[in-house]
Formats: sequence, C-alpha cells, structure tokens
Amino acid sequence: MKLLLGLLVLVTFVVVVVALVTSKSNTADSPQVNIAGQGAVLGSVDETLWTRQKFYAFRGIPFAESPSGERRFKAPVSRSPWNGTFDARSFGKRCPVITSISKLNAKQLEEEDWEDCLNLNVYTKNLSAKQPVMFYIYGGGFTNGSASDHPPHHLLEKDVVLVVPQYRVGALGWLTTLTDDMPGNAPVLDLLLALSWVQSHIHAFGGDPTRVSIFGQSAGAAMSGALLLSPKTPEHYFKRSIVQSGAITAPWAINRTPLQQVKRICEALQCEKCEDKREQYECLRKVDVLQLLRVTTEESFSPVIGDEQGVLPQEPQMLLRNLKRTVPLMTGFTKHDGSFVLATLYDTLIAQYGSLAKFTVRQLANTLIDLAKDTTSLSNNLLLRMLFKSKILDSNNHTAAWPAYFDIANSVYMKSPVVAYANELQRRSAAPVYLYTFDYAGAHTRFGYEFGNSQYPFEGGVHHSNDNIYLFATHKLNANDTLIAKKMVDLWYSFAADGVPKVGEQPELTLKPLETEAGPYFHIDQEVRVDSDILKELTVTIDDPESYKLIRSSVLPPVLPPVLPPVL
Ligand SMILES: *[C@@H]1O[C@H](CO)[C@@H](O)[C@H](O)[C@H]1NC(C)=O
Ligand SMILES: *[C@@H]1O[C@H](CO)[C@@H](O)[C@H](O)[C@H]1NC(C)=O
Ligand SMILES: *[C@@H]1O[C@H](CO)[C@@H](O)[C@H](O)[C@H]1NC(C)=O
Ligand SMILES: *[C@@H]1O[C@H](CO)[C@@H](O)[C@H](O)[C@H]1NC(C)=O
Ligand SMILES: *[C@@H]1O[C@H](CO)[C@@H](O)[C@H](O)[C@H]1NC(C)=O
Repeated sequence: MKLLLGLLVLVTFVVVVVALVTSKSNTADSPQVNIAGQGAVLGSVDETLWTRQKFYAFRGIPFAESPSGERRFKAPVSRSPWNGTFDARSFGKRCPVITSISKLNAKQLEEEDWEDCLNLNVYTKNLSAKQPVMFYIYGGGFTNGSASDHPPHHLLEKDVVLVVPQYRVGALGWLTTLTDDMPGNAPVLDLLLALSWVQSHIHAFGGDPTRVSIFGQSAGAAMSGALLLSPKTPEHYFKRSIVQSGAITAPWAINRTPLQQVKRICEALQCEKCEDKREQYECLRKVDVLQLLRVTTEESFSPVIGDEQGVLPQEPQMLLRNLKRTVPLMTGFTKHDGSFVLATLYDTLIAQYGSLAKFTVRQLANTLIDLAKDTTSLSNNLLLRMLFKSKILDSNNHTAAWPAYFDIANSVYMKSPVVAYANELQRRSAAPVYLYTFDYAGAHTRFGYEFGNSQYPFEGGVHHSNDNIYLFATHKLNANDTLIAKKMVDLWYSFAADGVPKVGEQPELTLKPLETEAGPYFHIDQEVRVDSDILKELTVTIDDPESYKLIRSSVLPPVLPPVLPPVL
C-alpha cells in the first residue's frame, strides 16, 4: 500500500493554476447574494473562455465551522450565521497539505486557523434562473486537492451552476479510532454537508436543487461512490453521477488498517501514551498541524469501513449489491490511466536499487498485479499468461515488457474496477449506465507535471487526469485541444443536465447506455465514436501496433544479468 501513497496525489493535483484567465472583478457590478440563515456574500464578475459570457464567482463561502480544536477529526457542523457581508471574491483556505503549511512562518502558523478550510465555490451566470447544478469532487489521492485547481471558465459556457466544495484531506481528514472521538470518514461527511448546503441555498444562486449531478475524478471518483453507496446520503441530494478514473470498489479506495495507522502516527509524534484509543485521540487532537503533516508525509489515507457515523457500514461491494436507489451514471477512464503507477514504481525501484536490471519481468509484473489483492493469484497467473510472451517472463528485458506493464497498471488500478462498478450498477438498476474511454492525446499531459518526466524510459500516454485538462481551464489550449474541450464540456453538461451525453458538433451521434456488460461504450477522441466490447480496453496497449511509441529508447536502463530477487 505504501507504493500507492502519493501515486494519485502526484498526478491529480499538480496543476499550478496560472492566471490563464484574469479575474475581471469590478466592484461596481459585484453581485451580492443573501444566503438565508447564513448571511450575505459578495462575489465577483468573471467571463467564460470561449464566448466571453459574463459569470459570477462566489469563492470560499464557508459551509461548516472550522474543523479545528474540539472539532478536529469530527463530523462537520454547519457554519453559524455571520453579520455583515462575507467577502467571497477570493478563494478560501485550502485544506492543509505539507507543501502549503511548511511555507508558513511561525507567526502565521500561530495567528491563523489553517484548518478552517471547509468552504465552497459557486459559479453561475444567472442568479434568478433554475439551472442544473454540477457538484465537483476533486481528487488528490485523499491527501491533497483544492477548489482553486479547478477554474470554471470552460464549464460555465453552459447554463449551469458549478459548485466546487472543499473537503478535508490527509491525516486531518481521515485519521480515525472508529469511536466518537475520531469517528472516521469525516471527509465524506464534509461532502454530505456541502450537498445539504446546496439543497438549502443553491436556488439563491440560480441553481435548481432538484437537478444536482455530482462528478468526481480519481480519489474524487471514489468519494462519489461513497456518497452513492452510503446509507447516510439522502436520496434527493443528487440525481446523477459522473465517475472519472476511479471507483470506491478499487483496491486503493479503502484503508484496511486504520487502527494500526492511528497508533503508528501517535507513536511517530512521540506522545507519551498511545496504547488505547482515548490516549491516541488525546495526543492527536492537540498536536499542531505542521507536526502532524510532517509525520504523515509517507502515509496513505482513504475511506474506512465501519466508521462510527455509519457512512460506510459495510464493504462497498456489499453496499453496492444491496443498493436500493439508482441514479443514472456515466463513468470511464483514460486510455493509459495506470501509467502514473508505473512511474511511481519506477521511481521507487530506481531510488532503492539503482536500476531495474535486478528484476525479472515476472517479478515486476507480479508486483504490479499484487496491488489487486487477489488472494487466489488468478489475476497474476492469467495476466502473465495473456499479456507476455512466455520467454520474456524470466528475462529482464523490460523494454519488451513496457506495453504489458501499462495494461496491467491500467487494468488493476482503474479499468477493471471502473468496469466492475459500471456493470454492477447496470445489472441491478433500471437507470442508464454510460461507459467511456478517454483516448485523446493532446498537447498537454499531467505525466510528471510537477517534477518533469524526462527520467522515465516511457511516455505517459493518455495519462491519468488528462481528461480534466479539457473540463477545467488549467492549461492554455491550442485549436485542436479546444475542440476536444468543447466536446468534453458538451458530454459532461448534457449528461448532468438531461441524463444523455451528447456532442454538439456531432449531432448525428447517438450514445447509448450499456445494454450488456460489454457495451455499447464510447471513445472520446477527435471524433467521439461508439464501440462494443469494453474488455478490449484491458489490452489496448499491447494490441496497439504503435505502442512502441510509448517507449523511450534513449533512456533505457542497462540490461544486466539477473541477481537474487529482492523483496519489494
Ligand atoms: C498539492 O497540490 C498542489 C497543487 O494544487 C501542489 O503544488 C503541491 O505540491 C501538492 N502537495 C503535495 C504534498 O502533494
Ligand atoms: C451579530 O450581531 C448581533 C447584534 O448586534 C450580535 O448579537 C451577534 O453576536 C453578532 N454575531 C456575530 C457572529 O458577530
Ligand atoms: C435569468 O433567468 C431568468 C429566469 O429564467 C430569465 O428570465 C432571465 O432573462 C435570465 N437572465 C439573463 C441575463 O439571461
Ligand atoms: C528486448 O526486447 C526488445 C523488443 O522486443 C528487442 O528488440 C531486444 O532485442 C530485446 N533485448 C534483448 C537483450 O533480448
Ligand atoms: C490538428 O488536427 C489535425 C487533424 O487531425 C491535424 O492534421 C493537425 O496537425 C493538428 N494540429 C495540431 C496543432 O496538433
């Protein structure tokens, strides 16, 4: 599981949002909204990227009391009303991450409440209309993410109200003793409170509370699954769901050892007593934010089963099987959604062993597949059999094996869980389930976005999170990429608004929900097109005659004779 830490983090939230779109705030026509029972908020005026339509932005509206002090780790409570007008012209604080908190000096740390991050952003063109609402749940490996990474200037081309809430991340969100003190799954409760805020207040921003769609990517995809499956979620909170590149049923979506984790972190903090849950809580509730984040940089976090509030009372698979409600779903993955896993594995092995030459293809492949936690090894055996020529398995010719490694990582982490989630919902509900693969290779990628990617012996392909480059205005797009962005916005908006994905530029195209477990499904590329057997996406890299293009010959590691297998 260690390996997984940071994996999703690194690639999902590495966008430094450059001021691509300048905020044209003009106090003269700054909009003001009265939120009943809360107070007034002052927003700003901005404009969309493609057609320069004016829209209003209300940023950093607090929806919960700060989860600090006695409220740390606990279920959030609604924000108390404020007097006067809340200035919502700039983003609120992001939930604490080591990279943001470690930049602060002692005085700043002392003087401000950095945990006060439960705020949300509302973007709308018309305060008196009744528009569909899209509620975005960011990813970031459950340990990072913020609303400011998701500029709305593409989606606001449509008549929609976009809401981007923040939820707690990392130790401050997920640490739990599974008791009253630290009930667990607090970040899911943060989202539930934000959804309840939407029900009460979105009409004041021109949104229709009866037409809310949630959409989330990566860790946000798993969170959206938690919301769908949780018995704590009132049915009317949302009507549809878009789930991008992840599933609550994926092997990385659940933390199976939260009690060991809370003890380990208590001990790392060198608190006096860490034996029982009460002692752990006493230690953790008082520790300062920077210290807590420092000792948890190597930890991975995710939702837990059996939290005290009953958010996830059972295994997601069980909840899914017994699910009573149904919502129309659109879900999918990117063509090479697992290449970031390979990159992280590569970094780990190089850091530790200097080269891959010490490993056989079989060892590397098994390491990747083991993250599926299939106790029968059936996945290992079948994947080795199907994806590799048997003669390379015991060699260390990784060059020949990269395409198969891609397909393993894609399938184990993303494609198989996404397909399984889609199929389970399709089998048990009358509601339509649309399935897609995002195949477009544009000018930008999230592959190694933060630290560069030139060290890798492979390309990132159509990388994890590349789909979001088109939904949110994070990059300056060329003409071709802009066409894709328009198609993505069409697809996402039409599904959210009407339950049927459509592309304006391709009026002849009819996208259908799954009829069987295989399809139909659709490819998102220069042209959106329909296809019939989703399972062929599991071997898309080895089947691609051009997959050699993913391999960089210039940085191939030296091929040395194999030595004894080290333990990973
Ligand atoms: C969190 O995401 C931001 C981008 O929003 C990035 O700059 C930062 O390095 C990330 N921090 C960690 C610890 O991953
Ligand atoms: C708001 O104003 C009222 C009346 O002046 C006062 O009683 C109350 O404490 C104020 N609330 C806040 C949050 O400042
Ligand atoms: C906003 O919506 C209302 C109600 O649908 C409509 O009457 C009005 O014309 C809209 N305003 C603008 C600027 O589009
Ligand atoms: C490794 O595999 C590649 C691609 O199949 C092949 O071109 C190369 O000759 C192989 N290298 C060795 C040392 O067998
Ligand atoms: C845009 O797409 C067209 C058609 O596929 C292609 O010929 C052209 O080279 C592309 N331009 C850029 C800048 O990628």
